[in-house]
Amino acid sequence: MIAYRNLRVALLGAGSVGAQVATLLSEHSEELAARVGAGLDLVGIAVRDVDAPRSAPIDSSLLTTDAMSLIESADIVIELMGGLEPARSYILHALNSGADVVTGNKALLAAHGPELLDAAEQVGAQVYYEAAVAGAIPIIRPLRESLAGDRVKRILGIVNGTTNFILDKMDVEGESFESALATATELGYAEADPTADIEGYDAAQKAAILARLAFHTDVPVEAVHREGITNITAAQVSQAQKAGYVVKLLAICERLTDPETGIEGVSARVYPALISRQHPLAAVHGGKNAVFVEAEAAGDLMFYGAGAGGIETASAVLGDLVSAARRHVAGGPGVAESTHANLPILPIDSVSTRYQITLVVSDAPGVLARIAGLFSDHGVSVEAVEQSVGTSSAVPRVGGTGESSGTATLVIVTHEASERALSRTVKAIADQEVVVRVQSVLRVEGA
Ligand code: NDP
Ligand code: HSE
Repeated sequence: MIAYRNLRVALLGAGSVGAQVATLLSEHSEELAARVGAGLDLVGIAVRDVDAPRSAPIDSSLLTTDAMSLIESADIVIELMGGLEPARSYILHALNSGADVVTGNKALLAAHGPELLDAAEQVGAQVYYEAAVAGAIPIIRPLRESLAGDRVKRILGIVNGTTNFILDKMDVEGESFESALATATELGYAEADPTADIEGYDAAQKAAILARLAFHTDVPVEAVHREGITNITAAQVSQAQKAGYVVKLLAICERLTDPETGIEGVSARVYPALISRQHPLAAVHGGKNAVFVEAEAAGDLMFYGAGAGGIETASAVLGDLVSAARRHVAGGPGVAESTHANLPILPIDSVSTRYQITLVVSDAPGVLARIAGLFSDHGVSVEAVEQSVGTSSAVPRVGGTGESSGTATLVIVTHEASERALSRTVKAIADQEVVVRVQSVLRVEGA
């Protein structure tokens, strides 16, 4: 039996996700009320343009452009507008008006998360944000609650659907980068400006959020090392395939000790990397996301599913809404986040991983030995070398006639080495006369 008064829910935004939230709230109203112990009344939806077309049928009498008044009338505010302002001000206003907040705004959380969470704590309110990372996939709650008694060692995430879609199309169908990006945009995976996807900004925002939760440390988004996928060529993807790897844009959050300084801290980084086709992340195709968590006691865990999409993301938003509403009905402090560890954020130089280096060199006696010697001189151990003489179909030649004869391609995979040692090695190699060019350097992850 439902004895509590109905709760007043305000929705800010009726775009891809917001319109689906409004529809599901109406369609599932009885079940939601039974689960919460109180009815959930959607009291209004703030938008920019009340006459704009909507992607799902919503009651147009709920639409308003007066977000501030709507916020003041609500027990729970759901922010699905995106962007930094006015979303930040609206959320602060909601918290200060006594409302709990549900948001999917990764950009805002990555930029102002600590401010919003502190503001919530000051007034005894809660900010829920399951939808902000990997859409429908439950990953915030597992990190914040389920793994709160464990120690997370590392997270490897495919957290951007657009780039996974592009790289997968290049790998499986040999499609071009440009054509795959156009399809990802049509399918609604890409951000309004896809630079956020292909240059890794979106994944970096998600990495900052995940690293904060996993390592109980504030991780400013500016401290996340970021490389996008715009330099990844069809040749690299095909070469990776032949070597038993696949190229994925990974968000990696790791607790590690810098081998040179001995400083223990947190590394958060985003870059395209090779992973073995045997690794579970290699099986994440299309626009899907997955987050692979390595924890001390729990071992390896993988969370997989839709990382984007209106209705999929609405599922995560409604889950948060039920949590927020139950707290209104049953009381209690809600869940807390901690940044007690306050670890230093380490630069990319502190990281150690494996690398694949592709070189175009003169095809002359002693060249391989000289290159091998440079690796050894810099303390980088070589795991495997593959040499192909003359034109390699997998590696494009950019040098024209000068490269068409008398050259060889070397593909060298290293054992684990530090970024510092690797970059010194690559610099020394590039300075050699026998080296026509360093074709590419890709990290190999997931060992
Ligand atoms: P959309 O761009 O589709 O929709 C944004 C909505 O917010 C629109 O209804 C718009 O109004 C409204 N809005 C924007 N600015 C204002 C403003 N100043 N005042 C009032 N209303 C405003 O965004 P999405 O639904 O795609 O995304 C919403 C949030 O969810 C974002 O933070 C996004 O990062 C996040 N997210 C989205 C996912 C997805 O797959 N789409 C996945 C995971 C998270 P109007 O319609 O009148 O223009
Ligand atoms: N543009 C994002 C992606 C949407 O491609 O994953 C979900 O955050």
